[in-house]
Parts: sequence; C-alpha cells; structure tokens
Amino acid sequence: MYTGIKHLHVLLAVLSVVFLITRAIWLLRGSDLLQRKWVKIVPHVIDTLLLIAAITMVSMVPWLGQPWLWEKLVMVVLYIGFGFYIFKFAQSAATRVAGLVGAVGCIALIAHLALSKVPFVLS
Ligand code: HEM
Repeated sequence: MYTGIKHLHVLLAVLSVVFLITRAIWLLRGSDLLQRKWVKIVPHVIDTLLLIAAITMVSMVPWLGQPWLWEKLVMVVLYIGFGFYIFKFAQSAATRVAGLVGAVGCIALIAHLALSKVPFVLS
C-alpha cells in the first residue's frame, strides 16, 4: 500500500515538473495552448493529488520527525512561489527564464532531499 502511494507520488511529481516546464516554454513562445481550459486545470489536479499522496504517506509513517522533510517542505513552498512568479508576476522573457531556473533548482534540491534523506542545514 505505502509503496504504491510512494510510486504514485513520484509519478505525480514528475508530471508536475514536466507540466511546469512545458507551460513555461509555451509562455515564452506566446503559444495559444496556454489558454486551453485543460491546460489551466490539469496542473492543479496533478499538484493536489501530489499533495494528497504526500499527506497520506506522512500520516502512515512519522516522517514529520525527520529534518530532511522540513527542508523539503521549505523547497516545495519556494517551488510553488517560483511557479506563481513565472505565470503571474514576471513580465519579461529574462525574468520568466530566471523564475524557471529557480523552480528547476528547487526541484533538484527536493529530489535530492527525498532520495538521500540527509538534510542540508538542519540536524
Ligand atoms: C514538488 C513537490 C515534490 C516532489 C518533486 C517530491 C519528490 C519526491 C521523490 C522523488 C520521492 C521518492 C524518494 C524515494 O524514492 O526514496 C518522494 C518521497 C516522499 N515525499 Fe515527496 N515530493 C514532493 C512533495 C512532497 C510533499 C509536499 C511532502 C510532504 C508533505 C512529501 C513527502 C514525501 C515523503 C514522506 C516521501 C516518502 C519517503 C520514503 O518513503 O522513502 N513530498 N518525494
């Protein structure tokens, strides 16, 4: 059961990142695809399911006692913030690309923390 939820969590995390990068590319190219209804809805569904899977795992195993998870949560909040910045606030191609680099950097740190379970600063 737990392993299945973890696989689902990882699949949804990959889909979340793929969608963010694809939508950012469409934004940079001025593509009409970004205006499609499903493109506006699907990422929210994926992110909600990703979070539900994460909360389910946390309710099954006492992960909240682990410092790596708290660092991961900080990076997840930053990742969400970069997403908002790219699509709502950044006005130029340069600032949008900078936001995308920040988001991808967060994902790299999130994946590293999830796999190694070794915190960067907390102990
Ligand atoms: C962008 C968001 C996220 C990404 C990219 C992500 C990525 C990952 C990855 C790649 C793993 C697999 C680690 C492994 O195979 O050992 C994982 C596991 C896990 N994640 Fe996430 N995650 C995200 C959000 C969250 C959130 C918000 C929480 C907590 C509320 C969370 C809690 C967990 C837990 C508890 C595990 C299970 C660790 C284990 O059983 O080994 N994740 N995550």
